[in-house]
Amino acid sequence: MNISDSILYVGVDDTDIGLFEHQYPVDEGISYNSYVILDDKIAIMDTADRRRTDEWLSNVKKALGGRKPDYLVVQHLEPDHSGSLQAIVEQYPDMQVVGSAKTSQMVAQFLDMDISGRFMAVKENDTLALGSHTLTFVMAPMVHWPEVMVSYESSEKILFAADGFGTFGALQNNVPWIDEATHYYFNIVGKYGPSVQTLLKKAGGLDIEKIAPLHGPVLPEDGKELSYYLEKYDKWSKYEPETKGILLCHASLHGHTIEAVEQLAKDLEAAGEEIEVIDLNTEDVSEAVEKCFMFDRIVLASVTYDGSLFPTMQDLLYHLSIKNFQNRKFALIENGSWAPVAAKKMTEFIEGFKNCEILDPVVTIKTRRTEADEPNFEALKKALLA
Ligand SMILES: Cc1cc2nc3c(=O)[nH]c(=O)nc-3n(C[C@H](O)[C@H](O)[C@H](O)COP(=O)(O)O)c2cc1C
Ligand SMILES: [Fe+2]
Ligand SMILES: [Fe+2]
Repeated sequence: MNISDSILYVGVDDTDIGLFEHQYPVDEGISYNSYVILDDKIAIMDTADRRRTDEWLSNVKKALGGRKPDYLVVQHLEPDHSGSLQAIVEQYPDMQVVGSAKTSQMVAQFLDMDISGRFMAVKENDTLALGSHTLTFVMAPMVHWPEVMVSYESSEKILFAADGFGTFGALQNNVPWIDEATHYYFNIVGKYGPSVQTLLKKAGGLDIEKIAPLHGPVLPEDGKELSYYLEKYDKWSKYEPETKGILLCHASLHGHTIEAVEQLAKDLEAAGEEIEVIDLNTEDVSEAVEKCFMFDRIVLASVTYDGSLFPTMQDLLYHLSIKNFQNRKFALIENGSWAPVAAKKMTEFIEGFKNCEILDPVVTIKTRRTEADEPNFEALKKALLA
């Protein structure tokens, strides 16, 4: 996992965290990546979550081989990367901490000690010479926090990309980047498309051979080109759908809404569409968020529940609204046995999304899909296929 003889991996795997950020299920764990750059001067790139401080410190010490670090570069203050900051600054009192101006303002929140006397604030294109290695700092505000910067090492042409290009999956589990990259990107970074676009434009001016994110493998993986990842990020950050196809999400209590959706899914598949069905009551909402960003058309079907929308559907739409969801077509199906209001509630959310359309007709079923509903479903299918 070392990048070279002088850029050593000191990161750690976390395989028993269960939920990353206490919200995302990560069955394959996650890695907190960190590096030591050994040269005339020594720089450590980021720290690790406090869940793994001892292991990370021990990795750092081994890599240092008895030497002392001159700099700790803090690219991102989120606790999964700054959780061991206190431990390392206490250990090496002469080490300077390098970060953006915003980091210098925020860093005290993450420490029980004052490091202002040893904090080196850097700005766009400032460099840090280590000997044969030189780091150039590039600001990346709101990818996905305001203080974020990335660092380009010019002798080995490596972009240390902070959370950019990160993915779930502990390194020991060898999860291919793409398997978890969309789950990670759309849930964590997806809201900030314009900020990612700005960073990609800056990165376009650099001669990059490898990208070292704070989570997941160094890119490119074997058999892949770096352009593969850059093109994915370009597409995703423009909110362009990855998949031409139809995602169907349902929220049901007694199963009749599921049956209605599954029949529609079958008919759409028979018409040659790529489809995927998600049960919002059993799948994690982060899976549904990811898939909504992936597909170009989305069917939402919800029961009416206590005079309102069913909570799992409400939760998905709330997530999409705060993730700046945009540029998609929706089809709506509501169920209600006496006073259906689910479609009205779903519409209110979608009307707040940028550049999203609700297809005609909005379909209402009363308890279950019957013969009388078929013309409406046929019309909805046509609208989805148009
Ligand atoms: C606890 C509960 C609350 C419900 N609240 C409403 C309601 O406020 N208005 C309404 O029209 N239907 C209501 N319904 C009926 C459902 O919306 C729906 O018609 C029924 O559950 C059939 O769909 P399903 O089999 O997919 O769950 C409620 C059902 C349940 C079980
Ligand atoms: Fe982060
Ligand atoms: Fe992170």
